[in-house]
Amino acid sequence: MRVHVADHPLITHKLTVLRDERTPSPVFRALTEELVTLLAYEATRNVRTESVTIQTPVTETLGLEISRPRPLVVPILRAGLGMLDGMVKLLPTAEVGFLGMVRNEETLEPTTYAERLPDDLSDRQCFVLDPMLATGGSLGAAIEFLFDRGAVDVTAICLLAAPEGVAALEKATEGRDVTIVLGSLDERLNENGYIVPGLGDAGDRLYGLV
Ligand code: URA
Repeated sequence: MRVHVADHPLITHKLTVLRDERTPSPVFRALTEELVTLLAYEATRNVRTESVTIQTPVTETLGLEISRPRPLVVPILRAGLGMLDGMVKLLPTAEVGFLGMVRNEETLEPTTYAERLPDDLSDRQCFVLDPMLATGGSLGAAIEFLFDRGAVDVTAICLLAAPEGVAALEKATEGRDVTIVLGSLDERLNENGYIVPGLGDAGDRLYGLV
């Protein structure tokens, strides 16, 4: 598994505002979108392309276009939905599938409660959106789900991660072509499974307590 932690002052600045408990939901949503667009730039570095010949007003030239089948973007519901707009802003031709995963707050184990994905993901590059890589349970299950359907490689974009989650994901995806792109690698997980210093519950902060 390749781990890429973003190292850019704009990302750190936006994350600092995001972490602040006083930041209200509308600002939190807007910042999440901006952060994902910045992280998506890094995450799509190895997007598959093919050569194409085009005609400029001056001459014929060789360029690149994104290969088919088109990349698949998969936000993990609910909090991953807050990352979708920022991702498709950069990759507007991607297709979008959905995976609903929830973790049991006592056992911290993930279960899938909704799924809307192509049956066959053979030859597909997939980009999974999940803001908080905490225990790694739900992200690991989501990634396994995509490989079981035939995905060739999976890149996950997370705003924050705990070292425990990164280690668990590394173990769960051994032998798979997986990359994770993180806004920040935080200190640790606390006893309730929250990332420290973190930003609290990403779903609640995006959408309120529902
Ligand atoms: N999910 C969240 O929303 N926040 C955390 O800190 C951990 C998991």
